[in-house]
Amino acid sequence: MFKSPFFAALCFIFASSYAEQSEPSVKEICKLVAPGTTIIYPNTCDKWVRCPSSFSAEDYEEGSCVFGLYFNKDTGRCESIENVICPYASAETSNRCASKEDGTFLAHPDNCSGYIFCSKGKEMQSTCPFGLIFHPGKASCVYVNEYKCPIKQSAAKANPICKAVPKGLLLANVNDCTKYYKCDEGSQLNSLQCNEGEAYNYSTKECVSRNQVICHPSAPQLEPEIDVCGSENNTVVGYIADKESCSYYYICAERKDGKPDRKPMHLKCPNGYFFDSKTWSCRDRVNVKCYLDRCEGMGNKYVNVIGDCTSYAHCKNGVTLNNGKCKSGLFFDERSQICTQDIITYAACSP
Ligand SMILES: *[C@@H]1O[C@H](CO)[C@@H](O)[C@H](O)[C@H]1NC(C)=O
Ligand SMILES: *[C@@H]1O[C@H](CO)[C@@H](O)[C@H](O)[C@H]1NC(C)=O
Ligand SMILES: *[C@@H]1O[C@H](CO)[C@@H](O)[C@H](O)[C@H]1NC(C)=O
Repeated sequence: MFKSPFFAALCFIFASSYAEQSEPSVKEICKLVAPGTTIIYPNTCDKWVRCPSSFSAEDYEEGSCVFGLYFNKDTGRCESIENVICPYASAETSNRCASKEDGTFLAHPDNCSGYIFCSKGKEMQSTCPFGLIFHPGKASCVYVNEYKCPIKQSAAKANPICKAVPKGLLLANVNDCTKYYKCDEGSQLNSLQCNEGEAYNYSTKECVSRNQVICHPSAPQLEPEIDVCGSENNTVVGYIADKESCSYYYICAERKDGKPDRKPMHLKCPNGYFFDSKTWSCRDRVNVKCYLDRCEGMGNKYVNVIGDCTSYAHCKNGVTLNNGKCKSGLFFDERSQICTQDIITYAACSP
């Protein structure tokens, strides 16, 4: 856990002051954002934390704004209170005006048309005339088109994690490495999906090719993509021979978006049968011309070889050990496992 005594002290203070609020912990937030991201310390307005430099590190760094400033999570620095909307401002209601000169105007933390006027170190809350919103920089009420109020006046409540992180920040989806989240303007968490063939590299916060990705350590491993069903512009649908096995085949499903199936079913013909791509059938293995190792499934037996019915292959544990040739005038018969005078014309060995 957190080793710094300072941090432990902070935890204690916040736990006791804001026990009734259940904001996510620093650790929970840091586990989702890219290493090294700086966030506002939940439930404060003037403290920040830099998340550890890697997923397994514990090198949190905490800082506090100097007197009179609030932490702006979007710019990553402390700024004049008038210019910062503190996402946790209601947690600090008692002292927003404490360090302010009399006559200072502050934006209301959850209402674009509201504002706070500091008088004798105390807060006086007020509201702009109907149709106007408060402009903190100008310390006056303006038309809505004159100021983009950072508070979204929608019914949707801010996501507790988005409250703490810079707006627009991307977060890993720990349940699926091909997806990620974005905290939008109104501190809502939006789920996004990487393009086909890509996944979310959580450290660099971008979608990269699946074979280069380093997924969030908590996310389940990506299932390997199977690329037998063609490419983006050349989709293959139907039954495809497995290029590594005579008896296995794939079923490439047709996808609504027209993209190739990346999770085709992988099936096997019964023992003694090979997949025949001409007829899309499982056929007696001697009737299928398969250019792969025909020892597949034959243990330590002998098999016919492609293109020459007078030769045979000697198998060891289902793999060709070496080849041999029947005596002159004889053919090899895989079925009876002997060189025979019968003329053998299996498709498996015919030229
Ligand atoms: C903002 O404050 C005004 C005046 O108190 C109130 O009518 C309005 O409903 C508030 N808006 C929100 C989103 O709380
Ligand atoms: C993915 O992130 C790692 C750091 O975790 C980085 O080293 C690597 O370059 C990134 N990959 C790409 C393709 O950007
Ligand atoms: C596939 O099509 C897209 C859009 O038509 C094109 O941009 C891309 O270059 C094509 N890819 C290949 C490999 O032809």
